[in-house]
Order: sequence, then structure tokens, then C-alpha cells
Amino acid sequence: MTSPILVTGGTGTLGRHVVPLLREAGRDVRVLSRHARPSGDGVEYVTADLLKDEGIESAVDGVEIVLHLAGGPKGDDEATRNLVRAARRAGVRHLVYISVIGADKIPLGYFRSKLGAEQAVAGSGLPWTTLRAAQFHDLMLTVTEKMAKLPVIPAPGGVRLQPVDPREVAARLVELTLGAPAGLVPDLAGPTVYGMADLARAYLKARGKHRPMLPVRMPGKAGRAYRAGENLSLTGATTGKRTWEDFLTERVPQHAGR
Ligand SMILES: NC(=O)c1ccc[n+]([C@@H]2O[C@H](COP(=O)([O-])OP(=O)(O)OC[C@H]3O[C@@H](n4cnc5c(N)ncnc54)[C@H](OP(=O)(O)O)[C@@H]3O)[C@@H](O)[C@H]2O)c1
Repeated sequence: MTSPILVTGGTGTLGRHVVPLLREAGRDVRVLSRHARPSGDGVEYVTADLLKDEGIESAVDGVEIVLHLAGGPKGDDEATRNLVRAARRAGVRHLVYISVIGADKIPLGYFRSKLGAEQAVAGSGLPWTTLRAAQFHDLMLTVTEKMAKLPVIPAPGGVRLQPVDPREVAARLVELTLGAPAGLVPDLAGPTVYGMADLARAYLKARGKHRPMLPVRMPGKAGRAYRAGENLSLTGATTGKRTWEDFLTERVPQHAGR
């Protein structure tokens, strides 16, 4: 009998795509979550909190492969260090991590904590694989939905994004998880580079809405890094196939194409 694969963040946007793919590959899955859920169909839920460092020991017990997707706006570095400590003690043989493109270049807290987490994984002494992905379509949907509630949409000039479909990220992660440890692998970005205004315009079109746009300038070092494209992966990246427009057609179907 093979040991289950531990998926942290298996209840999140990305994790919900990953878990069924691992099941289709014939693997039992253990999902680490802060909230209790009933187990079944080859998926066991264990309760633990990576940031509070509670319940991690029993979550990693008997596990050889960990796919670490859990994350939040802050504290991913500390949460990952806690996971790494327990994984080392449990003798884990492959630790797979999802990070973000620009982790090493964008001077914002979220990116810094992703870099800290990457460093914890790479310095763990465990065999590891890290994939950096671009922003997921779902995140861009949340952002554009919020923007479209404003009477005027602020569009930060020079900020470009390469949103990617989380299902494609999930498929790549499953491939990496079931393969040999590979270190830092090529980034995974979406097929198209958009300005913030392009993303908002496509969303408004799909919803059949109209809003004026106001060009704004993102201030400070982070603004400069975004304008320099440090959040993009234009060479050497693997690109997904599903565009923002494809995603909108599926997720906002009632108004699509208007
Ligand atoms: N969203 C993006 O655009 C994007 C882009 C690149 C990389 N990523 C990375 O991809 C990963 C998944 O992102 P997502 O958008 O799927 O996230 P999400 O939907 O916000 O889900 C977050 C997940 O993390 C778990 N989690 C949060 N804090 C935790 C804690 N203290 N202890 C244990 N589990 C915790 C949550 O589990 P429970 O609530 O069940 O406890 C949930 O499953 C993150 O590491 C993120 O940084 C995201």
C-alpha cells in the first residue's frame, strides 16, 4: 500500500483542482486544513494550523510526499518553516511547493513571504520541487469584480499581468508531485500579457457593464518593479492555454460575448 500524499491548502482554489487529479492518478490524499471535514473516497481530512504550528506532526505522520499549497496574504514563510520542521522529522522524500512569479523581485510583503517560504523549502535538506505561477484567473476575477463596483475604475498604468488558469497549474503540480524532485522548475504563466485596464475591460464586456477608467500611477518601489515587468515571466516560462477571456466565458456565462 502506498502512503497518502499530504496536500496542504487542499481546500483552496488551487487545491480543489489538485485533489481530484491526484485521486484520478490512483493516489490516496490527506488534506491538511484548519477546519474539520468528513473524510471519504480516498481523501482524509486532518486538522492542523501551519501558522500556529498545531497538529502538523500528526498530519505528516506516515507521509512520503507533501504538496504544500496552503497560503495567505502573510506568514507563508513562517508557516512553511513549521511544515518543513515536521516533514524533516517524518522523513518526507519529496516536498513540492507553489510559489509566485516575482517572489524574488517584487518588494511587497506577500512576495517576500513567498520567497522566505521558497528558501525554507530549498534549505530543508529534503528533496524538493518549487513551481512559481502567475496570478490565477480566480484572483483576477475577485479584483475586477471589486473594481467594477466603483463608479470609475482606477487602472494602474504600466502594470501588466499574465493570469493563468488554476486548473493548468494544478495539472502541472500533479505531474511534478508524482515525478522526481526537480528543484526550481520553469515558471508557469498564462498565454497572454494584459494591462490592468484590458482585464477590467474584458470583465465589463462579459458582464454587459460600462465604466469609465482613470489611469493612476502605482507609487513607490513596488510600482517601479511592476512597471519593469518583474512580476512577469516572458522568457523560459511554460505557458498555459486558457485565456482570461476563456475563463470569463465560462464563469460569467449569462452575459458572455455581449
Ligand atoms: N491566487 C493566486 O493568484 C496565486 C498565484 C501564485 C501562487 N499562489 C499560491 O498558491 C497557493 C494556493 O492559492 P489559492 O489561491 O488556492 O489560495 P486560497 O484559495 O486562498 O486557499 C488558501 C488555502 O490555504 C489554507 N490555509 C491558509 N492558512 C492556513 C494555515 N494557517 N494553516 C493551514 N492551512 C492554511 C486554507 O485552508 P483552510 O481554510 O481549509 O484551513 C486554504 O486551503 C498559495 O500558496 C498562494 O500563495 C496563488
